[in-house]
Amino acid sequence: MTATNDATTIAQRFRETFGADPDGVWQAPGRVNLIGEHTDYNEGFVLPFAIDKTAKVALRLRADSNVRLLSTFGGHGLVEASLDGLEPGTGQGWTHYPLGVAWALRERGVDVPGFDVLLDSDVPSGAGLSSSHAIECAVITALNELTGAGLAAEDLVLVTQRAENIFVGAPTGIMDQSASLRGAKGHAVFLDCRDQHVELVPFDAEASGLVLLVIDTKVSHSHADGGYASRRASCELGAQVLGVRALRDVGVEDLEEAAGVLDETTLRRVRHVVTENDRVLQTVELLGSQGPASIGQLLDASHASMRDDFEISCPELDLAVDTSKEHGAIGARMTGGGFGGSAIALTPVGLQQQVRDGVVRAFAGAGFTEPDIFAVTPAAGALRLA
Ligand code: GLA
Repeated sequence: MTATNDATTIAQRFRETFGADPDGVWQAPGRVNLIGEHTDYNEGFVLPFAIDKTAKVALRLRADSNVRLLSTFGGHGLVEASLDGLEPGTGQGWTHYPLGVAWALRERGVDVPGFDVLLDSDVPSGAGLSSSHAIECAVITALNELTGAGLAAEDLVLVTQRAENIFVGAPTGIMDQSASLRGAKGHAVFLDCRDQHVELVPFDAEASGLVLLVIDTKVSHSHADGGYASRRASCELGAQVLGVRALRDVGVEDLEEAAGVLDETTLRRVRHVVTENDRVLQTVELLGSQGPASIGQLLDASHASMRDDFEISCPELDLAVDTSKEHGAIGARMTGGGFGGSAIALTPVGLQQQVRDGVVRAFAGAGFTEPDIFAVTPAAGALRLA
C-alpha cells in the first residue's frame, strides 16, 4: 500500500466509483512502538506512537446491509459482501479489516447498516507498522460517528481487538489500535494495558538533535501465523505456573524464584516480558527527566531480550539493529510483533545518512532485499478529514 492522496481526491474517486458523495473522509495512522513489546496481552505497559503514515477512508452508509469495498491501490478490485450472516474470515486481503470492525460493532450491539468504502493508505503493509489497525481504526471511527453509536476510545479499542482476534484470526493485544486511536502529535502513548489508562509522554527527538529512523526490512510477517500465538501461549503458561493473573504481576525481583519452577524456554519468555515491562517504566521516567538522548541503552537491551529470550527477531532485523549502531545510532531495536517487519534506530541527525548508507550496504552484502529507511515523528491519532 503506497497510495497517498488527499481527502478531496479520495472523495472524488469515491464519487466516480459509487456514484454519490461519501458521508465523510476519515484517517487513522500506523504506529511504531518505542518500547514495550509483547507486553500488551500480558496486561503490561507499552509506549508506542502514531506515525504520519495513515489509512484514509471515504465512506457512505447504505440503506441495506451490503458492503462494497475498493482501494486506490487496486488490490482485489471491487469486493462486495453482506453484513447479514457475515461469518468471521469473510473477505480477501485488506477487506477483512473493514468487514471485521463492522462485524464486531454489530456483535457489540451497534446497529451498523451496509456501507460503501474507498480505502487509500500509505502505511506499508507487512512492515510491522500496523497497516491493518490503521484501516480498522479509520473505519471504526467513521462507523462510530455515522451510526451515532458514540463509543468511547477505550471501547473502540476492545471492539477492534475482537475484530482482529475473532474475525481476522490474529491473537493480538490492544497496543496498535490504542496508538492509532489515542495518539497525539509530539507524544508517545504510555498505556497501561490492564486498565487502558493513558499518559501522553512528550517525545521530541529533533529537539535533542536526534531522528527516529524506521528500517523496514521488507521481511513480511503475519500475526495470524503460528509464531505470535505460540509466544502468547508461553506467556499464559508462565502466568499459570507462577499463580498470577498475568505476567504484569511478576516483578524483576521474582525472576530468581521463577527459575526454580518454570521450564527453560518458558522462563526465557517470561523473563523477556517481565524485564520489558520494567524497561518501559524506566524509559518513561528517563524521557521525563533527561529526554530522548538517554534511552538508547534501554532500546538496545529490549532488542537483545527479544532476540535471545523471546526469540522473535530474524537475521534482517538483527543486521539492521547492529549496523545502525555501528554507524552511530545511540539505540536500536526491532519494533512490533517480530519475525520480520521493521527496526527503529534513534540516531543523531548528523549521522543519519551514514546510518542509512551503512544499513543499505550491509543488506546488499548479505544478499537481503534493499530495506526502506525513513524518519518518523509522533503524529495525531484517528480523525475526520472532511
Ligand atoms: C503486534 C500486536 C500487538 C502487540 C505487538 C507486540 O503489533 O498487534 O498487540 O502484541 O505485536 O508488542
